[in-house]
Amino acid sequence: MSKYARIVGTGSALPERLVSNAELVAELAARGIETSEDWIVERTGIRQRYLAAPDVGSSVLGARAAREALAAAGVNAADIDLIVVATSTPDFIFPSTACLVQKEIGAHGGAAFDVQAVCSGFVYGLATADAMIRTGMASRALVIGAEVFSRILDWNDRGTCVLFGDGAGAAVLVADDHPGILAARLHADGRHEGILRTPGTVNRGAVCGHPFLTMDGQAVFKLAVSVLDAVARETVEAAGLTLDAVDWLIPHQANVRIIQATGRRLGIAPERVVVTVDRHANTSAASVPLALDLAMRDGRIRPGQHVLLEGVGGGFAWGAALARI
Ligand code: UT7
Repeated sequence: MSKYARIVGTGSALPERLVSNAELVAELAARGIETSEDWIVERTGIRQRYLAAPDVGSSVLGARAAREALAAAGVNAADIDLIVVATSTPDFIFPSTACLVQKEIGAHGGAAFDVQAVCSGFVYGLATADAMIRTGMASRALVIGAEVFSRILDWNDRGTCVLFGDGAGAAVLVADDHPGILAARLHADGRHEGILRTPGTVNRGAVCGHPFLTMDGQAVFKLAVSVLDAVARETVEAAGLTLDAVDWLIPHQANVRIIQATGRRLGIAPERVVVTVDRHANTSAASVPLALDLAMRDGRIRPGQHVLLEGVGGGFAWGAALARI
């Protein structure tokens, strides 16, 4: 049995339609909703987002990201024996988005399932795949974060609709004797489920409850900064390392102020913190793998370096994984 699960390739997919802050502000103004480019950039760091066409779901974006990751890894889809898709915006109630991705990329017969941990989903998926690989249940896995949050936004709520975008990111993990994911830690506290939720559901053919995302932004902000700090320390310690061994910090991309505060508290220099929220806004479970893929492809992350990935969001759920690339 191999000792580690190693990330050997990453990929990403963004929908075609790029919407700048200027365009969004104009669209909202035309409907009487007042916001501004300055507010969005100053409070969040977001400059643009990508929005999926009505016929493009999480499985389409997830499959595109998966193909890119497989190509980067030099792994055939047919050899994948585990697919974990992290999503809160699945194509259907069932089958899982993972099964749809499996069909789309031609990776039949292995395990495939979704994890629902909202913005922590990719880290939850990574920890799950890592555990399954280390225990011999899988040997080549795809972990994907894929979301179309534009479907669950209330476009009349300026407090949330400017914050999110659609997209997908993916990583291929293989069993290896060399590290690898060194440690992962997951947490949740359901007592805070009310501060970030989409509480609607389908019941007897009708939408019941509120089908749009609602958020107490300040409560989420405060909790996020505190748990991202704690779980980063816990994970690095579990790996037997110290924070100065972290070459790159990739926190969930929701708000540049949360990202910067996390880096500051951990004593990680700003140039070691990967920021992509300006490019694609908050893509929930897709945000961490999108940022990871960008930093892998532009050459910032080099073989042998340590990357600390962190997720936080609805549930309230959070977690971190430390990987040697
Ligand atoms: O992915 C899961 C994790 N999610 C997050 O991490 C999000 C965490 N929270 C945040 O990022 C921030 O709390 C927000 C970006 C959501 C809000 O920033 P804030 O600095 O906490 O602003 P606020 O909620 O305190 O609102 C400040 C003001 C309010 O006006 P008043 O009451 O001071 O007059 C809001 O009504 O900003 C107003 N406001 C807006 N103004 C212009 C809220 N949304 C907008 C908007 N444009 N889009």
